[in-house]
Amino acid sequence: MSNIFTRTANGVMDWVNARTPGMMPAYRKHMTEYYAPKNFNLWYYFGSLAMLVLVNQIVTGIFLTMHFKPSAAEAFSSVEYIMRDVEWGWLIRYMHSTGASLFFIVVYLHMFRGLLYGSYQKPRELVWILGMLIYLVLMAEAFMGYVLPWGQMSFWGAKVIISLFGAIPYIGNGLTEWIMGDYLPGDATLNRFFALHVIALPLVLLLLVVLHLGALHEVGSNNPDGVEIKYGPKGNRWDKNKPADGIPFHPYYTVKDLFGVGFFLTIAAFIIFFAPAFGGWFLEHDNFTEANRLVTPEHIKPVWYYTPYYAMLRVVPHKLSGVIVMFAAIAVLFLVPWLDRAKVKSYRYRGWISKLALAVLAICFVWLGKIGAGPGTDPVETDIGRVLTFLYFVFFITMPLWTKFDKTKPVPERVTMHD
Ligand code: HEM
Repeated sequence: MSNIFTRTANGVMDWVNARTPGMMPAYRKHMTEYYAPKNFNLWYYFGSLAMLVLVNQIVTGIFLTMHFKPSAAEAFSSVEYIMRDVEWGWLIRYMHSTGASLFFIVVYLHMFRGLLYGSYQKPRELVWILGMLIYLVLMAEAFMGYVLPWGQMSFWGAKVIISLFGAIPYIGNGLTEWIMGDYLPGDATLNRFFALHVIALPLVLLLLVVLHLGALHEVGSNNPDGVEIKYGPKGNRWDKNKPADGIPFHPYYTVKDLFGVGFFLTIAAFIIFFAPAFGGWFLEHDNFTEANRLVTPEHIKPVWYYTPYYAMLRVVPHKLSGVIVMFAAIAVLFLVPWLDRAKVKSYRYRGWISKLALAVLAICFVWLGKIGAGPGTDPVETDIGRVLTFLYFVFFITMPLWTKFDKTKPVPERVTMHD
């Protein structure tokens, strides 16, 4: 019996291979013969998890699109219809809205891993740059998605964020009007955001992810020791010309990643079934009320994943300066591969100054996130926000200095394994 199956499967594969000769070599290059360092740890789960969430967003998004009405008159009630009347509609919607927040949790941890192990350093600068472009597009994608259900926070969030462009001298007001297609967020805004959210930006995201992985596989993965396995000893069980410290991505890391997927889906299921709004963090309370241009919500604030930048915008007293600071906070991340002058990649072998600096950066980011999520009326908190913003920039501006002068430990010749 199994012989028939094996022969049929092989026959089909040969048939396909004869017609697309590039496919098997590509599969081998990226899966069975992609030798990844054998010492990946927990931090290396987040790349594959980001891909999982991306697929979840696309699949659930397609089903939402089948029932959603992209017009200011109908959007809110079409979402209510999905929640109450469409079979399993509530599940599809909560998988999509929870997926958005989980996407950012996973991506922030993925980025932090990059900082921790110096994965942006030569020769992986392009992997980092493409990652940063993904991050930018992801923020735009999530922002436009949040506007679609046309709740109070969709409307007022869109108004505040799009109006930021008004701070640009001369062209600001015209630009704001051009983006909105109106003087206030309205039908035209919703329609164009829908087009960008469901087709244009997802296509760009997919393309960038393919380029991101293509760039990574060209140079090979970094690892928690920051040792380049390519330049280490050669020869492993599978291939005597390949790095001794590499193991085939498939099946070893596909199986390992599946374990991560199981764990992650368990947590995701708990949130989706028991706390989809997550105390107002994933779905804000004000967004359960339909958009009303005559009633302003008490506190207009974006979803948690933007709040560190939103806090920076708010603590700077001058509007244009606030906008510049906010965009600079993101832009400076692009420069990290050139700001870091350390001889070693991984923080495992860096000195205490680097470790302290990275810890301070992480604390600043999270604390700013908390401040940005608050009402912004406490003057003490505003002062703290200013100090945190200052420290955030100090990290990057002084990076060439402390990375150069901080003491480093000797890096081992081969990767190390920890139980
Ligand atoms: C949709 C979002 C993203 C997806 C699907 C994605 C996917 C992946 C995957 C599958 C890997 C290889 C596995 C791993 O190392 O974890 C990877 C590696 C990497 N990613 Fe991403 N990524 C995303 C966003 C980002 C962002 C926002 C950045 C940083 C700005 C980034 C920077 C990196 C770096 C530096 C590596 C190489 C890590 C190493 O070899 O140590 N990625 N990415």
